[in-house]
Amino acid sequence: MSQTETDAAPLTIAVIVASTREGRFADIVADWFVRHATARNHLVFDVIDLDTTPLPTRLTKDRGGDVQAFTDRLAAADGLVVITPEYNHSFPASIKHAVDFVQGQLNAKPVAFVSYGGISGGLRAVEQLRLVFAERHMATMRDGVSFHLAQGRFVDGEPVDAAAVTAAADLMLDQLVWWATALRAGRRAATYPTQAW
Ligand SMILES: Cc1cc2nc3c(=O)[nH]c(=O)nc-3n(C[C@H](O)[C@H](O)[C@H](O)COP(=O)(O)O)c2cc1C
Repeated sequence: MSQTETDAAPLTIAVIVASTREGRFADIVADWFVRHATARNHLVFDVIDLDTTPLPTRLTKDRGGDVQAFTDRLAAADGLVVITPEYNHSFPASIKHAVDFVQGQLNAKPVAFVSYGGISGGLRAVEQLRLVFAERHMATMRDGVSFHLAQGRFVDGEPVDAAAVTAAADLMLDQLVWWATALRAGRRAATYPTQAW
């Protein structure tokens, strides 16, 4: 085991920003979350903004350099945070398209959700993403952060109910760290069993 592979090494958390919509609100939510989360010790964040992450429009047999670069970043992560809005009572197509390129890179890793939207706060998107990530052999965090009527929940880039929101983010991150630590040790101790497909 090299120095970077010890159980004491910092955990790497990939943060996927799901919205690619022109004029998106995602930047406000993502900037706040990353600012808050990076204040924690022992975590290294890799922000994967799907708006600036090139991926082919079609799933092809030749996975190509862009797909490899994307999935390599996921393979290097010990856990995932997905920042997602809700579109038509579900998640945006951009996140599903990206996940469809994933093979085993997320196996036996945890995923947490920061959601936002209209009255539902993106929770319907999150509940449906749990099904998608279960298929990718991931553990989904029970607790998360949700902004309903999101545009009115921030002033100058900060959440208006900062105490409640940061408490929710901290609980979510505590759960993510617990699972990421346990599952990193598990992946190192034994190969995760999967069927080839
Ligand atoms: C195509 C579309 C569909 C939407 N559908 C819903 C919805 O079903 N429920 C909801 O609460 N908000 C819905 N919204 C509101 C968005 O969740 C909200 O505007 C959010 O800020 C969009 O994220 P973005 O600006 O980062 O893309 C929808 C917005 C769009 C553009």
